[in-house]
Amino acid sequence: MSAAPWWCASVGYEVYLRSFSDSNGDGIGDLPGLRARLEHLEWLGVDLLWVTPFFRSPMHDQGYDISDYRDVDPTYGTLADFDSLLADAHELGIRVLVDLIPNHTSVEHAWFQESRSARDNPFRDYYIWRDPAPGGGPPNNWVSVFGGPAWTLDETTGQYWLHLFLSEQPDLNWRNERVARELDEAMRFWLERGADGFRIDAADGLVKHPNLPDNPVAAATWVGPPAGIASDWGSLEHVYDVGQPGVREIHRRWRALVEPYGALLVGEIGLADPEALALYVNDQDGLHLTFWFEPMEIEWEAATIRKSLSAAAAASDHLAWVQGSHDRPRAATRFGGGDVGRARSLALAVLMLGLPGVPFVYQGEELGLVDGLVLPEEAQDPISTRAGEHGLGRDGCRTPMPWEPGHGLGFTTAQQPWLPFGGRSAADTAAVQRDDPDSILRRFRRLLRLRRTPPWGSAPLEWIAEQGPLVAYRRGTVLVAANCGDEPAALELPPGTWTLAYATQEPEGREATGSVELGPASAVVLVSPA
Ligand code: NOJ
Ligand code: CA
Repeated sequence: MSAAPWWCASVGYEVYLRSFSDSNGDGIGDLPGLRARLEHLEWLGVDLLWVTPFFRSPMHDQGYDISDYRDVDPTYGTLADFDSLLADAHELGIRVLVDLIPNHTSVEHAWFQESRSARDNPFRDYYIWRDPAPGGGPPNNWVSVFGGPAWTLDETTGQYWLHLFLSEQPDLNWRNERVARELDEAMRFWLERGADGFRIDAADGLVKHPNLPDNPVAAATWVGPPAGIASDWGSLEHVYDVGQPGVREIHRRWRALVEPYGALLVGEIGLADPEALALYVNDQDGLHLTFWFEPMEIEWEAATIRKSLSAAAAASDHLAWVQGSHDRPRAATRFGGGDVGRARSLALAVLMLGLPGVPFVYQGEELGLVDGLVLPEEAQDPISTRAGEHGLGRDGCRTPMPWEPGHGLGFTTAQQPWLPFGGRSAADTAAVQRDDPDSILRRFRRLLRLRRTPPWGSAPLEWIAEQGPLVAYRRGTVLVAANCGDEPAALELPPGTWTLAYATQEPEGREATGSVELGPASAVVLVSPA
C-alpha cells in the first residue's frame, strides 16, 4: 500500500455489541459494557473495532433496521455513552468504525412513515414503490435475502415497496439525491463525534436497475455469502438488483466526504469473484477496503485454502480478511469443532495475518469459540423465526461472550441473557484463558503482536509451490506456513537459517535449516536474517 495510511498495520475486530458485555443487567450487551471491556481488546492487540449497529431500531434484524441514524437505541445506551466509549478507545490507541446501513431503513423510520402515507407525499420517492404486476402480485420476480418475495403490498396506497431484506427493511431509493444528502448528514454526524470510519452494510446494493427487470433464474447454485441463508436468494442471478452502475459513484462521494477526517471505509460486498470484488477498491477513489468472505465458506483443505487466499491477494491488496462474523457459523465449528476446529481456525488466522490488507477477528475467535447451542424455541434470528430455517439461523455465532466462570459468565448479571450462552465451559472464558500461557487466547495474542512490527514489511507476496498439505508464502525474509492436513508434514525451507518468529504449537525462538516439521493444523512464521 502506498504512503501507508494509519489502518495499514491495524488488527481489526468485530464487536457484536448485543453479545459483547452487558453493563446494566438487562441481558443485552451495550456501549458502556463494551467500554468496560476495552482493556481486553487493548491487551489482545486489537486497534480497530467495527461495532455492529447501536442506532435506534425496532430490532427486527437486530439493529440492521434503523429508525434514526443519528441516535443511540436506549437498549445500547446514549449518545453520551458513545462519546465516552470513543474517548476511552482513542486513549488506548483503538479506533472505532460505526456500522453504516445505507441500503435500507426500518419501516419505523420517519421517512418511511411519511413515504407510505400517500402517493404524493414529499418523501414518497425516498423508497422504491411500484404498482402491482399487470395480472396482480409483486412487480417483478426479485427475492429477499431472507427468502420470499422482495416486495410487500401497502394496502393504503395500493403499491408495493421493495426490500432486499425483511419487509420491515424497505430499500432506500438511491436515485433520489435527497436520500444521498440525508446519508451524507448521517455520516458527518458520527465523524464529527470522532468516529474513525464506517463498515458499510450491503455496499454493492444501493442502486437498482431503473426498469426493475426480472432477474434471470440461476444456472448454477450460487456459492457466495450469504448463500445457504435462504435458498430463494440463490435461485436467481443477481443481475439487476445489486452491483449496478452508479454504486461506485456513491462510494466516491463517501470517499470525498470522509477524506478530510482521515476516516476509513470498509465495504460489505458478498462477491465470490475476487476480480469483480477488486473493482470496488483498486482505484483508491471509493472504499478503502472490502471484506473477502470466501474463507467463511470454505472447507479445511490445503488446495482450497491456498486458492481462496492467493486468488484474492492477487486481485487486490485492499482486502479485509475474515474467517467469521455475526452472519455465518464460527470458523472453529466449520473446521470440525473442538480442539481440532480451534487449531485450524488459529492456523488460518496466521495465514491471514501476513497478507497485504487488514485482518479482522470476530469476537470470540480469540477464545477458539465454537457456535453456541441455541434451541429452536430460543431462536432470535429472523432466518429461524420467520424463514423457518433454524439450521441456517445466525444465532449460534451470536451467543454472548464468556468472560469468566460463574453465573452470567461475566457477560451479564441478568437471570437470562437475550440468547443462551449455548454450553460454554470455564475453559472457554477469557479470564481462564488469560491465566493459561498455552491457551488459544494467549497464542492469538502472541500472533497479533506480529502486526506491531511486522517482520515482512512491505515485501511482495510470493506463494510457495505446493508441498502436500502445506499452504505457504514468502514475503522477503519472512515465510508463513500452515499444515492443512491431518498428519505432520515437513516444509522444505529455502537455503539459510530460519528462526521461528511465531508458532501456534510451540514456543518461539527455535532455529531451523533445510526443513521444518509442522504438526497437523499448526502454523508458523519464520524469519531468515538474509
Ligand atoms: C449484513 C449484515 O451483516 C446482516 O447481519 C444483516 O442482516 C444484513 N446485512 C441486512 O442489513
Ligand atoms: Ca444492557
